[in-house]
Amino acid sequence: MTATKRARYISLVELINEHNRLYHTLDAPQISDAEYDQLMQELLGIEEEFPNWQLDSSPSQRVGSKPLPEFQQIEHEKPMLSLGNGFSSEDIQNFDQRLHRQLDLPLEQEFEYVAEPKLDGLAVSIMYLDGKLSYAATRGDGRSGEDITQNIKTIRSVPLELTALPEKFEVRGEVFMTHAGFERLNNEQQAKEQKLYVNPRNAAAGALRQLDSRVTAQRPLSIYIYAIGVCSDPEFTTTQANLLAKLHGLGFPICPLFKLVSGSAGCLEYYDSLSAERANLDYEIDGIVYKLNDFALQEKAGFVARAPRWALAHKFPAETASTTLEEIDVQVGRTGAITPVARLQPVFVGGVTVSNVTLHNASEIQRLGVRVGDTVVVRRAGDVIPQIVSVDLQQRPSNTEEYEFPTACPVCDSPIATSEEGVIARCTGGLICAAQRKQGMRHFVSRRAMDIDGMGDKVVDQLVDKSLVETVADIYSLTFEQLEGLDGFAEKSAQKLLAAVNESKATKLSRLIYALGIPQVGETTADQLAAHFGAMEKLSQADSESLQAIDDIGPVVAESIVSFFATETNQQVLKHLEERGVFYAQVPVNSNAQDERLQPLTGQTFVLTGGLNAMPRSEAKNRLQALGAKVTGSVSKKTSFVVVGTDAGSKASKAEELGIEMLNEEQLLEILETN
Ligand code: IVH
Repeated sequence: MTATKRARYISLVELINEHNRLYHTLDAPQISDAEYDQLMQELLGIEEEFPNWQLDSSPSQRVGSKPLPEFQQIEHEKPMLSLGNGFSSEDIQNFDQRLHRQLDLPLEQEFEYVAEPKLDGLAVSIMYLDGKLSYAATRGDGRSGEDITQNIKTIRSVPLELTALPEKFEVRGEVFMTHAGFERLNNEQQAKEQKLYVNPRNAAAGALRQLDSRVTAQRPLSIYIYAIGVCSDPEFTTTQANLLAKLHGLGFPICPLFKLVSGSAGCLEYYDSLSAERANLDYEIDGIVYKLNDFALQEKAGFVARAPRWALAHKFPAETASTTLEEIDVQVGRTGAITPVARLQPVFVGGVTVSNVTLHNASEIQRLGVRVGDTVVVRRAGDVIPQIVSVDLQQRPSNTEEYEFPTACPVCDSPIATSEEGVIARCTGGLICAAQRKQGMRHFVSRRAMDIDGMGDKVVDQLVDKSLVETVADIYSLTFEQLEGLDGFAEKSAQKLLAAVNESKATKLSRLIYALGIPQVGETTADQLAAHFGAMEKLSQADSESLQAIDDIGPVVAESIVSFFATETNQQVLKHLEERGVFYAQVPVNSNAQDERLQPLTGQTFVLTGGLNAMPRSEAKNRLQALGAKVTGSVSKKTSFVVVGTDAGSKASKAEELGIEMLNEEQLLEILETN
């Protein structure tokens, strides 16, 4: 009896999975919703009766399971790469010509490319072991991502189990939300009086990163697979076009709009036809991806830093929109820098609502000729900061006036000093200015500085507004009672913040120097100063000349450091910090020869430029330094290696000019991992 029930259970799993595929992947249902529901009820009934029969591939997984306490990290066996960008026809022709050169093939021999829509969602990896969905992860930083297995299983078009897959088979694709799904979700949110999502991409990201997969199951997520990662069968396929066809045949959802095209002309033709079609699609795309069809050629072309040479993303032009400029406010920064900000009539552009846009400085306002009341054109592309590109003079109302840059700080009323070129304007109030104090404190407590967890902007604002702190050193004399009295605080949160403050007292000299917010001193310079002087006292006594003896420190930075330490109030702050228990571990000074046997890169100077895939640049820098290397910010004859990441700029050309050896990310990783 139970044996037949068990057999029925297994066939139900297979049957329902097949109907899911017919419905969600092939768009060709064979049974009615009512019949489907009936099968599902039967299955759920059996699982309730015999919980330990439940299979990992059971469609009941689609409804989600218990919330996770946090996401685990999953390391990608093969890194998940990004793509180089092109914007014009010329960029595409150059890409095609470059590939011909790299592969040493004549231009007349046209390449076959697969052109696919560039889906605007989130990249994921899904691993199948012995045909069963085993785990899934977000792209993360390309090297490792978050374990979202439970959430991926709730997407009905994702097969839970497939026959005829290679033993180990990783697929990669994009999770997104259709316009229809997005609208439905926002209607539901509105009915529940909950916050609305700004665009389908954000809504998809929110759904995918839910710790409670039962919530994800309620969200209308879709997915298209466009690549494979690890595959145990080396002969699985030899071209991208065949891969897509094969994936489709196996039961994976793929975007049906891909096309095999010939040469750059074929790519551009596809681009034009899809651009025209874009508005009619039920999902967001932000460009076209061209991929060399032949995998053997792909392999030959290889990678540069974190992007393949054999593929390119042809991005659609940035969207623009018109709106009214209602006000120009000025903001005061940490060192008193005054930045004008345009307050706009909110406008939806490039997938988000924009209401504030920086105007940078007085000369930018002059260049644009913009006035309060003007109609302006705003542009935003992808995750790029929105900007005002032009003013529509035709629509200027008659009563507008030229903008006059303020002469006094809006916060403390101190005079504003302006540089000769009219580019930099500063409030001269120093610590008198509450805005500067707030910004300085935000910087001091930030993650890369003293790293005081829980001291966010709102807390800092209150501490300054309530005069609980005058300088950053006062953070270390805050009491439990004072913190408990802050808005949004209770006993637990006050205790927690106090503990974080205490914990931050033990730090590194470089962090402390950086935290002080000395104008012109960023993290790199702070690192160099810490390594060179080894103690705050020595640094504070250094003169301009001895500072300039350090690589990369010129007269402007040196002067700024000298004048910072010459200021009495700053000396007081340092004294108070020390008295209140802030200390740093002693660091070895560069000039004292270190044990070279333990430092394989001693004597080598590295410059990092462009983005890295495997880790943030700061981590690469720390690791190189740990191996004894010096890492500087500019390329000179003294540079031993320049590590060239993506979107590297002038430093790479400078290195080429000076004939300095350049490394790609892979070579950098090799150095880090073998030393
Ligand atoms: S292929 C090595 N194909 O674009 C190439 N990516 O900028 C790996 N994307 O992280 C990606 N649609 O999130 C590929 N048809 C498509 C795509 C696509 C969207 C995204 C993906 C990736 C990013 C790269």
